[in-house]
Amino acid sequence: MPHRLKIAPSMLSADFARLADSVKLCEDNGADILHLDIMDGHFVPNITFGALVVGAIRTLTELPLDCHLMITDPDKYIPDFAEAGADLISVHVETGFHLHRTLSQIKSLNKIAGIALNPATPLEYAFEAAEYCDFILLMSVNPGFGGQRFIPTFIRRCEKLREYLDKNGLNHVEIQVDGGISAKNIAEVYAAGANIIVAGSGLFGGDFKQNIEAMRSAVKQ
Ligand code: DX5
Ligand code: ZN
Repeated sequence: MPHRLKIAPSMLSADFARLADSVKLCEDNGADILHLDIMDGHFVPNITFGALVVGAIRTLTELPLDCHLMITDPDKYIPDFAEAGADLISVHVETGFHLHRTLSQIKSLNKIAGIALNPATPLEYAFEAAEYCDFILLMSVNPGFGGQRFIPTFIRRCEKLREYLDKNGLNHVEIQVDGGISAKNIAEVYAAGANIIVAGSGLFGGDFKQNIEAMRSAVKQ
């Protein structure tokens, strides 16, 4: 059974001077999850924000907060993000020496646990860790910046991963896609098996309401 489509605006493309307004825009237009990009300037060539800002966003909304940790030492900071009010936490497999330990840590804090893979990281990493995950984030751009172009190899990787999950009794594990998604390609990524759809510039670039409606209506569920 295909999973329900969930749209997760990436706050990286929001107006940071009016964060509360951007959060409200997401709420008013039926966003399912808020995606928060945590970058450390080591794992990715950019720095964003940390647990303090996640905590501030927590006070603004009841929407689930999804912390995408693009940081080299996730184990050290997971408790801070959990305490700040994250609901979903994903860590990059490229950073982890002890991935199962990291995922258990997230789960022991009663959070929804995910792993993230860069576009060129072998899918086998996901296969090995899938049974310990609630969701798997397949990047469709190299992480670090919003507004990059979708890398088409995502489609075949996503189909392969969905097939693996479904064949191995792991149908409940959801696939998240992140990078370069808009109304133009959302149908294709959903059909390939991704149902948690992150979008930054595709939503905040132009009219948010029109963009999110166009994305939803492009997907046949
Ligand atoms: C990229 C981030 C994404 C980014 C997506 O490193 O993980 O969440 O904000 O932005 P768009 O949708 O503009 O590619
Ligand atoms: Zn992200």
